[in-house]
Amino acid sequence: MRLILLGAPGAGKGTQAANICARYNIPQISTGDMLRAAVKAGTPLGLQAKAVMDAGALVSDDIIIGLVRDRLLQPDCAGGFLFDGFPRTIAQADALKAAGVPIDYVLDFDVPDEDIVERLSGRRVHPASGRVYHVKYNPPKVPGKDDVTGDDLVQRDDDHEDTVRKRLAVYHAQTKPLVDYYTRWARSGEAQAPKLRRISGVGTVDEVGRRIFAALES
Ligand code: AP5
Repeated sequence: MRLILLGAPGAGKGTQAANICARYNIPQISTGDMLRAAVKAGTPLGLQAKAVMDAGALVSDDIIIGLVRDRLLQPDCAGGFLFDGFPRTIAQADALKAAGVPIDYVLDFDVPDEDIVERLSGRRVHPASGRVYHVKYNPPKVPGKDDVTGDDLVQRDDDHEDTVRKRLAVYHAQTKPLVDYYTRWARSGEAQAPKLRRISGVGTVDEVGRRIFAALES
């Protein structure tokens, strides 16, 4: 299974990715997590990316395409993978297509903008594992602590409301056009075209998960 998750920041891609990857035994390739790891490690890439991410903008296509290209060479990608947060621009989608990387499904998560701000302001994360919680909708068993390790949960620097609104604007300008991109490709009749499935991301985490597996397994 080779998948792309499309959708606005906070649409639930990371939350659902964990269950999808467990079901199909494939790695989650989150460009956001990769960039945050580089920021934490203080690498030159991380230093460059931090200012861009904190401003709610997109890191340059060249950097992202290079990161993904290297990641796909790892042996755990041989049996499939899930892209979470990639591609995010037409240039990234074109690079993926030009590289001949096969994709089975593109899942487009649909969540109204009004819900996104509430979701992201209540998000808490466990940076080491990428596990994601919400103080109201998906709370940890012990408030503020990761369910598995008991480590402290943190709020992401880019989850403050003004940055979230900038990220949403960037999403509408640069990433939403990918829905048309994949719609046109899916309708082209080309054998290698991925199937596009629109998934309503509104409802509980379990309800959204059931819609995803129904779409993938129908
Ligand atoms: P990235 O880390 O990819 O962030 P994002 O796409 O903005 O997505 P999020 O992680 O914010 O949201 P999500 O959809 O995963 O939602 P989640 O499941 O956490 O990117 C960060 C930055 O890195 C970018 O701004 C950019 O600068 C850079 N970057 C990354 N990739 C790039 C690329 N390809 N090109 C260029 N730059 C790139 O859910 C959100 C919250 O809602 C959680 O609290 C969760 O518990 C809750 N929730 C989930 N589902 C539900 C539900 N059904 N009901 C209620 N609450 C729910």
